[in-house]
Amino acid sequence: MTDSNWWRQAAIYQIYPRSFKDSNGDGLGDINGITSQAEYLKSLNLDAVWLSPFYPSPLADGGYDVADYRNVDPRLGTLKDFDRMLKALHRVGVKVFVDIVPNHSSNQHEWFQEALKSAPGSPARYRYIFRDGKGKNGELPPNDWVSYFAPSAWTRTTNPDGTPGQWYLHLFAPEQPDFNWDNREVQLDFMKTLRFWSDRGVDGFRIDVAHAMKKDMSRINASYPKIDTFKVGNKGTDILFDRNETHEIFREWRTVFNEYNPPRVAVAEAYVAAPRRVLYARPEELGQAFNFDMLDLDFKAAAFKKTIDTNIKYAKEAGSSSTWVLNNHDRVRTATKYGLPDGTNLNEWLLSDGTSKKLNVELGLQRARAAVMMLLALPGCTYIYQGEELGLREVADLKHEDLQDPIWFRNVVKKIQPVFMKREGKTIKGVAVVHTEKGRDGCRVPLPWTRSGKSFGFGSGGSHLPQPSWFAELSVEMQSADNNSTLTMYRSALALRQKWQTTEDLEWIRTSNLEVVAFKRLNGWASFTNFRGVDFALPKGRVLMSSGPIKSGNKLPKATTAWMVLE
Ligand code: NOJ
Repeated sequence: MTDSNWWRQAAIYQIYPRSFKDSNGDGLGDINGITSQAEYLKSLNLDAVWLSPFYPSPLADGGYDVADYRNVDPRLGTLKDFDRMLKALHRVGVKVFVDIVPNHSSNQHEWFQEALKSAPGSPARYRYIFRDGKGKNGELPPNDWVSYFAPSAWTRTTNPDGTPGQWYLHLFAPEQPDFNWDNREVQLDFMKTLRFWSDRGVDGFRIDVAHAMKKDMSRINASYPKIDTFKVGNKGTDILFDRNETHEIFREWRTVFNEYNPPRVAVAEAYVAAPRRVLYARPEELGQAFNFDMLDLDFKAAAFKKTIDTNIKYAKEAGSSSTWVLNNHDRVRTATKYGLPDGTNLNEWLLSDGTSKKLNVELGLQRARAAVMMLLALPGCTYIYQGEELGLREVADLKHEDLQDPIWFRNVVKKIQPVFMKREGKTIKGVAVVHTEKGRDGCRVPLPWTRSGKSFGFGSGGSHLPQPSWFAELSVEMQSADNNSTLTMYRSALALRQKWQTTEDLEWIRTSNLEVVAFKRLNGWASFTNFRGVDFALPKGRVLMSSGPIKSGNKLPKATTAWMVLE
């Protein structure tokens, strides 16, 4: 029988299904592709995988615009394929989380389509957040609220007779209308979805944008021109984010999770400051919350140490274990980030197609390897994002015409600038559309499985985002046989972690080198990371493994982690 606390210190691998493995050559990764790699997933020594959305979706936001919560996108497979995949992964000892997107649906969801056809004030509209516009004829949005993906959070509808209608709220793209979580029908429908997947045998859920579900629409006249969810304070009374009533929803979800044996588990994507975030992780709610604090850190010892300390403390207070995350489908990959000068504005660098600052490829990878080994030794649960185990870098030079992310499409300004008139052969001043964010496609490029072939073994056809030629050397095929490869390091580290995993305690080891982060677990398993200091003399003991070569005399070079059993 599975221990009901299995998730507290698990290693969980995020699969972005459309970019993992394509079984039918249509250029999109699919469910059968995942099934075909069950042995690969087993070889990583994971506890579970989390699948980003694979539901029917028009893909306005990479699948986070769900048109049907209880089905599989026909391009990715069928429910039967899903069941087969679940069985195959369970057979190799890997549990499965699915992604639940409760803040918003796709505008193609049947409920939203019904709402558009229904009158203002109707029950169909009450499932979403419709309001009349301002201005003489309702031509202005109800207020100045902004969307995460910019600019306005409101889009006007067109009535069935073609006249302009009400406006609806969307904190993300216009194709992602926000649900009305004050509506019991919405609440019940999501519990139905949780049971639907739980009944099929899914082990857990990742909850998208958990902090935004409840809004205080009685304050519709208040201005809210900028989103900064880390600054909403600790009272739980902000208009849009982290409202106290949100927790009532999750307490009810917990009763659903506990209908199963072992209870289903969940992790919140609650993008708020640590003391508030852990409230979502209380045992009577979701149980766990992503700690994203490391995503924004430069590769510096002091910052990591502080983040580890505070997060362990907060998670403990909430009765949960901490989570650790370095990469996901929303962020520039660490192998790139750590190879750029500190403080590099990553968006600007991406907009320059990776040319504005020189990337130190070797250093980036060395640091990414050191960082993840440190993470894997910490008490708590570590999330790994597909491709991280290959040391993949961000694909920074994707061509504009290949981009898919709404962040790219929606962040535009019109600028007057010199424009070359081809026909007349002269330059005049014209209006050009300039994109101000490049978006997240660079970390979502399909995985390279083989060193050659049309899409490096991703599938027999092409790949929905083009892969660069340097993917060949980082392919699974190239790395599998190489003892020093990043893939081999992940496999060994994850296997050793399973062997040495112990109670959730951490003891700091004092060192005089401020660039070293050193700690041990109560069974003697210790981890030393030299961030940037001079070579660090490791203490007496047995080195279990390291992220890079250790110098003679047991000296740990910079950008390296070593695991030891201390004497
Ligand atoms: C968070 C997801 O990680 C991101 O990819 C998505 O765009 C937003 N939520 C909206 O669902």
